[in-house]
Amino acid sequence: MGGHNVNNILRGSRIRRSSKEANDFTSSVGFDGPLSGHVVKINMAHMVSLVKSGEVGQKEGAACLAFLSGLPTKMDLDPSTEDVHHWLEQKAIASVGIDAAGYLNLGKSRNDQVATALRMEVRERVIGIVGRAKRLEASLLKVMARYGNLPLPGYTHLQRAQPTTVFHHMQSHFEAVEEDVERLTQLYARVNLSPMGAAAFAGTSVKVDRAAVASLLGFDGLVGNSMFAVSSRGFLLETVSVLELLMVDLSKMAEELVLWSSTEFGFVELGDEYSATSSIMPQKKNPVVAETIRAKCGSVIGEATAAFSIAKALPNAYNLDLQEMTPHLWRALDDTASSVSLMAAMLASVRFDPARLNETVGEGMSTATELANELVRAHGVSFRGAHQIVGELVRSAVEDGTTLEGSAEARLAEVSERVTGRAIKIDKARLRAVLDALKTLTLVGSSGGANPKFAARQMVQDKKEIEKLSDWLEEKENKLNESTKSLRGEVRSCMRREVRS
Ligand code: ARG
Repeated sequence: MGGHNVNNILRGSRIRRSSKEANDFTSSVGFDGPLSGHVVKINMAHMVSLVKSGEVGQKEGAACLAFLSGLPTKMDLDPSTEDVHHWLEQKAIASVGIDAAGYLNLGKSRNDQVATALRMEVRERVIGIVGRAKRLEASLLKVMARYGNLPLPGYTHLQRAQPTTVFHHMQSHFEAVEEDVERLTQLYARVNLSPMGAAAFAGTSVKVDRAAVASLLGFDGLVGNSMFAVSSRGFLLETVSVLELLMVDLSKMAEELVLWSSTEFGFVELGDEYSATSSIMPQKKNPVVAETIRAKCGSVIGEATAAFSIAKALPNAYNLDLQEMTPHLWRALDDTASSVSLMAAMLASVRFDPARLNETVGEGMSTATELANELVRAHGVSFRGAHQIVGELVRSAVEDGTTLEGSAEARLAEVSERVTGRAIKIDKARLRAVLDALKTLTLVGSSGGANPKFAARQMVQDKKEIEKLSDWLEEKENKLNESTKSLRGEVRSCMRREVRS
């Protein structure tokens, strides 16, 4: 309590006393770091607009712009200030005087600025994550190219179900990541709209050119209603939701690598770089990176849940509660970005064990469905009838400790007679063919299925997807770089005009 920070310009004459404890509690300085560079740009674009419309004199405007241009990229925000906006204004006043810097906040508010700065940071981070996801897709493609032909037991309920291939399995992950990336690029369009000009929430009588400011800041358009512009965190909630979905997909892949690298499965070996050993059991090779990715998914779900819980039931328009969402956003972005990168790198290190895969794919009667299909196709039995017959053959195989082939040879005629009233016989070669895991794969005709003959064409399509992503990234990055250049140009010419006048 008492005279803490007497130079605090923002508290003005309205508020007399301050408390360090209360300020520390409500200040966002501790997590405004990622916003500070954007806030400087916002101040520049806004001041350029004010000078152009004649709201601020050339001299004052130039002094503000000179101050803003002179700020270092990495700023040490004073923790006794309320936030980056407060810090910046205070620093400007200390450095160029209140007669010039006192105009910085004409026609704008921290409310429109923070919504704008958040959107600027989110769009960059989305670009970064899309870039990492592109590398993940490339790693998946590499695994498909190298190991795709290997057979793989496919599971449902984690019970051996039907044979598939490494290609088919990894391509399913590729499609999942592709869907996540599509969500990110669609999200980008909704994020990249400018709230500036909304001021506190009602708009402003000060002449600001919203469209020009938006364009200098690299936005594709404006958030329309000024109240929506400052109060909505829909873009933030959508971001954490999309991250959550992406992390759920990654955690599935991570869980699978944990299982597959166990002795029980023995399908893959992970690179040493992505493993650790035990401090007591020297034989251990623990999949620590996969485990951490799996856990980070839980953290991101937590951050998203926290953000949603804060956003609910707030009255329109700005409430300081919104500020509390920011650190959750940062953590969700950080955890997701590093998880995607590490999953990409770890997958590129995976080595499949062909002998083990060939051996396991034949076990476990996973071709039973194909035997039932054969009874339908060639012997006029309904599928449910065939399911019953094969189910009984499987049960007796399990009981007698024999194979499905053995039990079919010995008992098909008798079981089928009981179920259908007809004794069915399948010749030995045909029986062997429908029960052979690798052969059944080649029988799959439905598109998107596990038949290896679909792989080559699919890989061509997957490569095209990756190229499309490169184009998207290039387009967005170029546009942001261009806007930064034109902002700098405008700032320079504003400052030059003052020197000439
Ligand atoms: N630091 C705040 C945030 O992150 C913006 C400031 C709004 N504060 C205010 N008193 N209107 O949301």
